[in-house]
Amino acid sequence: MSERLEDIAAAMVAGGKGFLAADESTGTIKKRFDAIGVGSTADSRRDYREMLFRSADAMRKYISSVILYDETIRQKAADGTPLIDIIKANGAIPGIKVDKGAKPLAGFPGDTVTEGLDGLRERLTEYYEMGARFAKWRAVIAIDVAKSVPSAVTIGSNAHALARYAALCQEAGIVPIVEPEVLMDGAHDIDTCYEISKAALTKLYLELYAMKVRLEGTILKPNMVIAGKKAGKHSSPEEIAEKTIKLFRESVPAAVPGIAFLSGGQSDEEATANLNAINAIGPHPWKLTFSYGRALQHAPQLAWAGKSENVPAAQAAFAHRAHMNHLAALGQWQP
Ligand code: 13P
Repeated sequence: MSERLEDIAAAMVAGGKGFLAADESTGTIKKRFDAIGVGSTADSRRDYREMLFRSADAMRKYISSVILYDETIRQKAADGTPLIDIIKANGAIPGIKVDKGAKPLAGFPGDTVTEGLDGLRERLTEYYEMGARFAKWRAVIAIDVAKSVPSAVTIGSNAHALARYAALCQEAGIVPIVEPEVLMDGAHDIDTCYEISKAALTKLYLELYAMKVRLEGTILKPNMVIAGKKAGKHSSPEEIAEKTIKLFRESVPAAVPGIAFLSGGQSDEEATANLNAINAIGPHPWKLTFSYGRALQHAPQLAWAGKSENVPAAQAAFAHRAHMNHLAALGQWQP
């Protein structure tokens, strides 16, 4: 594999392959395990993720990249093989979540700012030596219109931090995934999501330019333009596709090689149908693919339920979702 940032970024989004977001923090994976009645220990988290990474057929055909959490990138499989080596042996690029989470923004109730810049240069050097070739930083932007959330300050602070993170990544030879997630929690309508997402993306690219980040060596991980989960009106895939692409044409430079969506609480099939609708109205200046956590892992988690005899069924469930999302990334998925 070539080590130029633009080559790594292009490889991450090539051929309708997408990313497996397996970088749940210890707290988040515990919530997922609680839902299937599995205790969350270093070993159970390892067993579960090893099962996904060893799904050789799915990994080779549909997954270009795997986003890891700090614990996982250091873990070894039950037979002693480093998990990162299993990922690489299956042809995927390993990457690492480096932010330290969204924290309440002082003075702005309801807003958060993502922390983790202190010491990041040193951490990136270590992760590069361990084999990571990309990183992820997630900013979280909540919507609560009645409370003036998000503020311009949270959008600006998060964009600034994302750009500082991205510049440090590129200095270290690591492709930054920049993720300004506008949450789909709440009752806001799809046009409010569009307006807030536009403010966030516009500010983000201004900051990336200001900090001399080379866009060719970055990936954007955004939300789709979609109504809040508690909105009365459900958005159709066609409306989501039209408004999401309008947003990107207005605010994401064509120099960005790829856009890999988060699933954000959409159901497994919605996440596939919406990605497919987005690609079906192409061609677009960027590759548009998936970087799903929940929408790739929900089905295998249910099938697995912590039992080793369920591993083949869980791997089959993972392979199925990965295959469907691969088809959607090519605009070839059929309901
Ligand atoms: P979801 O697809 O579950 O939203 O997770 C993707 C992710 O990595 C969010 O940072």
